[in-house]
Amino acid sequence: MRRLQDRVAVVTGAGSGIGLATVRRFADEGARVVCVDLDEVTGTKAAEEAGGLFVRADVTDEDDVARVFRTAFETYGSVDVAFNNAGISPPDDDSILETGLDAWRRVQEVNLTSVYLCCKHAIPYMRRQGKGSIINTASFVAVMGSATSQISYTASKGGVLAMSRELGVQFAREGIRVNALCPGPVNTPLLQELFAKDPERAQRRLVHIPLGRFAEASEIAAAVAFLASDDSSFITGSEFLVDGGISGA
Ligand code: NAI
Repeated sequence: MRRLQDRVAVVTGAGSGIGLATVRRFADEGARVVCVDLDEVTGTKAAEEAGGLFVRADVTDEDDVARVFRTAFETYGSVDVAFNNAGISPPDDDSILETGLDAWRRVQEVNLTSVYLCCKHAIPYMRRQGKGSIINTASFVAVMGSATSQISYTASKGGVLAMSRELGVQFAREGIRVNALCPGPVNTPLLQELFAKDPERAQRRLVHIPLGRFAEASEIAAAVAFLASDDSSFITGSEFLVDGGISGA
């Protein structure tokens, strides 16, 4: 199915994990994909695979983010989809009593401020077109919290969820849909890194997932493609859970 034929889709965090799987899925669905990452090597590879464009950018830097959307528009003539997905995992000890202010601020910058910047610079193009779909990556922890003490991470994702709801409501009448994607644990380098430091944490997490396994990134990408496409035309301001049932357990 080519539900995104000739749509211009910006993907941040395109070089790895959920972003990379989504680049592949978007390309399969016919989109022109603009791959954004800090990592030049993986980002270039993703763009080559998708026959798209790579823009190296730090999503915490406003000039970089403005350049990303300008380049997408100048190269392909529109900005139809923004998948604001780049993010980092929590610091080693992310409990409220241990997390330092610098670590807290860094997580908010990369996970939350980046989404604010990407929405801010995508919306003007979508507004002119009278149409667009924005998908912001939050997490299941934004909905249910986390018993594993990740205060800065959970707070950043809660912010993404609230911002997506707010923007979804605000821009609905202008044809711009905004949704928060809330994945459960996904088998990506981010999760593998976290569990390598604390293997027991993986087991603890696993027992709480009703489907009994972690998601593959391609399963998350399938949901992103749905939210990006007109098949989700009546969905906006939602918390879109793709979590193996963990939030309902
Ligand atoms: P990943 O670590 O595999 O990929 C993240 C990508 O973002 C990397 O390519 C990295 O270079 C890029 N990136 C990081 N900081 C950046 C910056 N400042 N500017 C531009 N690019 C930057 O991670 P994964 O697992 O694919 O995560 C993607 C998103 O999904 C994140 O927002 C994460 O918090 C979220 N998420 C992940 C879950 C999981 O279990 N893996 C569960 C729920 C949410």
